[in-house]
Amino acid sequence: MSINAYLNVKNIDKMLEQPPQAFSWIGFDSVDNCNLHCVYCHNPRTKQMIDLEKFERFIHHHVLTIENFQIGCQMEPSLDKRMVGLLQMIAESPAKPSRQFKVHTNGTLLNRHDARAMVEAGLTHLSISIDTVNEKTFSELRGGAKLERVFRNVKQFCETCPEVTVQFIATVTQANVDEMDLLVHKGVAIGAKRFHFREMFHDPRSPIVDHQKMEKLLLPPGRFQRLKSEIEKNYGDQVGLFFVDSPAIRQYGKEAHRNSR
Ligand SMILES: C[S@@+](CC[C@H](N)C(=O)[O-])C[C@H]1O[C@@H](n2cnc3c(N)ncnc32)[C@H](O)[C@@H]1O
Repeated sequence: MSINAYLNVKNIDKMLEQPPQAFSWIGFDSVDNCNLHCVYCHNPRTKQMIDLEKFERFIHHHVLTIENFQIGCQMEPSLDKRMVGLLQMIAESPAKPSRQFKVHTNGTLLNRHDARAMVEAGLTHLSISIDTVNEKTFSELRGGAKLERVFRNVKQFCETCPEVTVQFIATVTQANVDEMDLLVHKGVAIGAKRFHFREMFHDPRSPIVDHQKMEKLLLPPGRFQRLKSEIEKNYGDQVGLFFVDSPAIRQYGKEAHRNSR
């Protein structure tokens, strides 16, 4: 049986104690930090970075087979100047995935990395977190990030690497739920082929998020299902559409963490 696992600076020593395994999916964060402070993000950060010798040991000696490898999961991979080098290291190891080789990023620093070198290392998918095409809502949700900059970077990437499947990940809240149709429309225009919609979750025990803001952002019951019907009706025959409600996001995260100890 192959498993899903999450690898990062905190658990790499534990992962190195495990025997070689077959993986369905590895989500990997080489840094423990992000350049944005999104209003709904529950993740604590540190300045730690993955040790290259340990990472190399893991991908060469602890992976039997793997279908999907994702760089960038809970943190921001483009903060790591070694990002392209990490893709190349994976490509030359048993951890080179047989299906999807993905980078998941907020897109703000994408222009600092060599896109063609990523493709040459085998990149198949680029996931970008974009919640809306409304500049003000984008900045409010994504900790002051500039929509224009992210869109420029994604457009440039799509032009440079047309063979990579570009997908948008939108975290859906009360503030942007009515802007999803336009997001898909504008995303398709610059080359995005898939759209993932994730209903925002809120953990009331979190010491990180502002709970008053979060309560206002939570979708009312049934709204996410209604969004799904609307978007499927308008775009279902044109692009790939994926919808994950908030209980499912949390369950998936817990499972990946359980397999990573
Ligand atoms: C934590 S981010 C880290 C990766 C990268 N730095 C980015 O911004 O996409 C991964 C994804 O989780 C989403 N996310 C963060 N907090 C969330 C929440 N409370 N509910 C649902 N999705 C959330 C983000 O919008 C993003 O698409």
